[in-house]
Amino acid sequence: MPTILTGDRPTGRLHLGHYVGSLRNRVALQNDYETFILLADVQALTDNFDRPETLRENIFQVALDYLAVGLDPTKCAFVIQSQIPEIAELTVLYMNLVTVARVEKNPTVKTEIAQKGFGESLPLGFFCYPVSQAADITAFDADLVPVGADQAPMIELTRDIVERFNRLYGETLVLPKPMYAEFGRLPGTDGGAKMGKSLGNAISLSDDEKTVSGKVMSMFTDPNRITGKEPGNVEGNPVFTYHDAFNPDKARVAELKQLYAAGGENEKGKPRLGDVTVKRELAAALNEMLAPIRARRAEFEARPDEVWDVLRDGTARGKARAEAVMARVRDSMKIGYFG
Ligand code: TRP
Repeated sequence: MPTILTGDRPTGRLHLGHYVGSLRNRVALQNDYETFILLADVQALTDNFDRPETLRENIFQVALDYLAVGLDPTKCAFVIQSQIPEIAELTVLYMNLVTVARVEKNPTVKTEIAQKGFGESLPLGFFCYPVSQAADITAFDADLVPVGADQAPMIELTRDIVERFNRLYGETLVLPKPMYAEFGRLPGTDGGAKMGKSLGNAISLSDDEKTVSGKVMSMFTDPNRITGKEPGNVEGNPVFTYHDAFNPDKARVAELKQLYAAGGENEKGKPRLGDVTVKRELAAALNEMLAPIRARRAEFEARPDEVWDVLRDGTARGKARAEAVMARVRDSMKIGYFG
């Protein structure tokens, strides 16, 4: 079976953006690929190095999210990054194959640096995380990397490193291909380009029904629609983007869009379709989708020892794979002095 490697920074609970960007794909692919999923705690440290004590709980929460969405630990290895020193070794070796100028041009890193307001105190560790991500991907001989579109520059860099490495030291590393979610990037509830916990515009997979409904009801829509009778904007309206992503009743979504775009009033002089109706139906669709995810989460949450066993076992499987790759790398680079 070919191999999948993908991962998440454990900085908190996962949200709907993770779900459409990657989790949904992973669940669909786990039967056809040997899957390694990295809980990238070392990468999380690159902008949380002053709070290492948060990692343990965040790893646990992300593992719960994985199990809750239906990732099967007999098919997927959940691997804790910090327990795989080979990743750090590969990172150092790859650093020689990447220029500073190349990382400086990485649009995802650029945006993050601006958002986090690092300024003059940008840590070298954060700046270099794309190189470490190339180590993540290659340490497991990944053929395929299912990720959101924002990760495209990381995969391109990884592919360049692999090609350069193989040219310099001989055919050693597997060249990975990205797989982007069909849906693209999910906007935040505020209409911002990207959903993010730290941006305060996220709906978590573990939010309860009331929280989800509350967040949906206060979502950004078309600001020009004041009475609800004006023709509304469907394009770029996050409420409709979410309907497209999560409401299985496509016919109803088409009808809602058509009524919303037309505007107008009914025989009682009320808007033919108000924003409240569109949002209520979205909240209902989301809550229906999330109900079984919440239920599975609660089951595992009650058995934390089992969750840690899953992590221990997955990490051991990942370690075995990374050791084999590292042995090949040392051999190719002629630094396997003692055999
Ligand atoms: N950078 C990814 C994110 O922010 C997380 C990640 C770390 C990752 N290592 C990875 C994704 C390896 C894919 C492959 O979401």
